[in-house]
Amino acid sequence: MKPIKKAVFPVAGLGTRFLPATKASPKEMLTVVDKPLIQYAVEEAVEAGIDQIVFITGRTKRAISDHFDKAYELEAELESKGKTKLLELVRDVLPSHVSCIDIRQSEALGLGHAVLCAKPVVGNEPFAVILADDLIDAKPRGCMTQMVDHYNQHQVSVLGVQEVDPSETEKYGVVKVRPINDHVSKVEAIVEKPKPSEAPSNLAVVGRYILTPRIFSLLENMEKGAGGEYQLTDAIALLLNYEAVHAYRFEGKRYDCGSKLGYLEATVEHALQHPELKDDFLAYLKDFTASL
Ligand code: UTP
Repeated sequence: MKPIKKAVFPVAGLGTRFLPATKASPKEMLTVVDKPLIQYAVEEAVEAGIDQIVFITGRTKRAISDHFDKAYELEAELESKGKTKLLELVRDVLPSHVSCIDIRQSEALGLGHAVLCAKPVVGNEPFAVILADDLIDAKPRGCMTQMVDHYNQHQVSVLGVQEVDPSETEKYGVVKVRPINDHVSKVEAIVEKPKPSEAPSNLAVVGRYILTPRIFSLLENMEKGAGGEYQLTDAIALLLNYEAVHAYRFEGKRYDCGSKLGYLEATVEHALQHPELKDDFLAYLKDFTASL
């Protein structure tokens, strides 16, 4: 059995829902309190035992690679001023046993195409895919840790799923399943962005996947799907012809930080949990809402 050691982070999307903020800087660098979305996602992967991070990047995404690189001048400055706590924060962004690789997706042709770009680095191993704009809080075990544990027991592809309001199926890949237990179901079909009237269920795939390497040959031979993009969902639908795929209802709370409302919810709730901020921020919120 090959362990899950590599995680692919597709970060080459255009982020149109956040324009103009995302005109020249990546959506994944939007900050929730004091950390960019991509750092929350990388921390989740590292906690799950992953030690190779593959960013699928595009134009305007350099800040992501820089964030995980050594910051010589900043570190020297903090060191010379004796600001050891801040220095630690900067150095701890990426543990030393973890390496990062950038692959450029020259055109944003869709999530499926972005994942295919990782093939030369991932090779013939199972791997994780994490979409950083889905921020998932899960304690004591992160969402990807839960999914890797499940993979280790069953060695099948695993999709992180969550029930969504039936009116929202058009935003997601939606699965038809046969339940195995409270958390796990066998996927029987998957459709990208179905209308509520055509959705096979309200169980939606959110931005967490563990995939077997067979997905690459399926992605290579695919046609464009919904929205004129190469859809990962369509390749997973083909994968079902060859292998079992499990839908895994993870424990934890997901924030859809690709949407403005979800991003604001994540910001407020994380501020209310932040050790330095929570009391003052709660007092502010109480005053402010009382004044409305
Ligand atoms: P989204 O559907 O959220 O698209 O992509 P987007 O471009 O990021 O944002 P909007 O909808 O225009 O506001 C889902 C994930 O897939 C990545 C995105 O970066 C995001 O993490 N992606 C999408 C790519 O890496 N390449 C693509 O061609 C498309």
